[in-house]
Amino acid sequence: MSLKNRIVLNCLPRHVAIIMDGNGRWALQKGKDRNYGHRKGVDTVREIIETSAELGIQYLTLYAFSTENWNRPWEEVEALMELMVHSLNNETKKLVNNNIVLKVIGDIDRLSAGVRESLDYTLEQTSKCNGMTLIVALSYSSRWEMVKAVRDIAYKIKEGKIDPANIDDKIFENYLTTRNIPDPELLIRTSGEIRISNFLLWQLAYSELYFTETLWPDFGKEDLYKALIEYQKRERRFGKTSEQLHENGN
Ligand code: FPP
Repeated sequence: MSLKNRIVLNCLPRHVAIIMDGNGRWALQKGKDRNYGHRKGVDTVREIIETSAELGIQYLTLYAFSTENWNRPWEEVEALMELMVHSLNNETKKLVNNNIVLKVIGDIDRLSAGVRESLDYTLEQTSKCNGMTLIVALSYSSRWEMVKAVRDIAYKIKEGKIDPANIDDKIFENYLTTRNIPDPELLIRTSGEIRISNFLLWQLAYSELYFTETLWPDFGKEDLYKALIEYQKRERRFGKTSEQLHENGN
């Protein structure tokens, strides 16, 4: 049976998040510069978006640029920004044709005016779509997001709009950039690194984690199928016992 046919389509994760890692190493292995790896990484992005939408995944989040990535050599930061914005702009029509709505999470105030303008164009063009939601984490880090949430809540308390005694998970989640987006059931990280790197720390609390040695430019639809098959073998207990889950018919 093909890998694709082994996926149980009515048990797909609603939300898949991916840390796309290994572009630099992939390029260096080929004797090329790091930006060559990022350009090849965009081909993978395209294939994974198409495959996810085709399967019926509802939310796909891609970690494209972290707050910490601003510390990379300036030429690489500039090349990455250009590449991302051009790719999104070039793909706008295709996104719309595939009914994909784009969202961006992150500290976008740090992006240049030109980058933000291009981004706004694609955001606007896809805003009426209602198929898969593609979330690009850009200038994003989870600590930035949580500190911002705490600050925003503190302002509301000061204005008398929130009573601290009422703060719970739901209220806190409303102040995260992922408000109204369900938590990812599955996180994939490529390139053999086994860490979360400041990505969706709150939202990944109960996610299944899948790590693969494959470098991002080599990650293709068959690799996504493998991750989904592995996910479907996991028992998601959310702190309960296995017996409790089976008693409740879950
Ligand atoms: C990690 O590889 C990859 C990145 C920091 C950038 C990923 C961005 C893209 C593939 C472009 C995304 C485009 C869109 C449109 C979302 P690395 O450079 O850290 O690789 P290394 O760990 O091997 O050095």
